[in-house]
Amino acid sequence: MHYYNNCYDIPDKDYYVNVTLQPITPYNINAIKHINKMVFPITYNEQFYSDIIFKYNRNLSRLAVINNKPVGNICCRIEPSSNHPIVTENMNEEVLYIMTIAVLQQFRRHSIGTILLNYIINFCKLHTHIKSILLHAQITNKAAISLYIKNGFEIVNIIRDYYKNVDCTDAYLLQKRI
Ligand SMILES: CC(C)(COP(=O)(O)OP(=O)(O)OC[C@H]1O[C@@H](n2cnc3c(N)ncnc32)[C@H](O)[C@@H]1OP(=O)(O)O)[C@@H](O)C(=O)NCCC(=O)NCCS
Repeated sequence: MHYYNNCYDIPDKDYYVNVTLQPITPYNINAIKHINKMVFPITYNEQFYSDIIFKYNRNLSRLAVINNKPVGNICCRIEPSSNHPIVTENMNEEVLYIMTIAVLQQFRRHSIGTILLNYIINFCKLHTHIKSILLHAQITNKAAISLYIKNGFEIVNIIRDYYKNVDCTDAYLLQKRI
């Protein structure tokens, strides 16, 4: 994968897509809302989106765009390790928690999810106080779990009834140590 001018070219796929990753601002937040509405079975509230723009470091979230069309996003936050005692060796560490990663259905399987995930993995490698990446995924979410496993994540816990009002309420906790 080649990185240049904030553009991500994917030469090993059946066709090429040029993806730019943009910081999330008040000007493109509606694109994130639209993608999440199309992709996720739950609705995120206004506070969720406000926090992405105003509370968390702006480099923790990105909108993926192809030819001016928003097609995906990743949104994360930094948490103390003590929020996740089951997987934490040192309670003074920080972890990066992936809140959402999403690609519109018609753009899937063209490495956009991989590009978004690798953006965040590289961010963590540059910020050495972040010792691991964590996220929850429905245990039936084969696409997401495959993406994570392929990128070095491990299933570290299963949490019964983590989700509410969805078809499958059980979650895996996945972790990648940095
Ligand atoms: C998970 C998601 C972000 C992946 O995005 P994507 O752009 O399609 O992912 P990629 O093209 O980078 O896929 C990378 C690898 O993940 C695995 N993968 C992705 N989708 C898969 C699927 N439907 N079935 C099996 N494996 C899959 C494959 O190993 C794939 O590599 P390959 O295409 O070379 O075989 C996308 O499916 C999505 O938005 N899903 C709905 C939202 C969601 O569930 N988010 C995660 C919440 S925890």
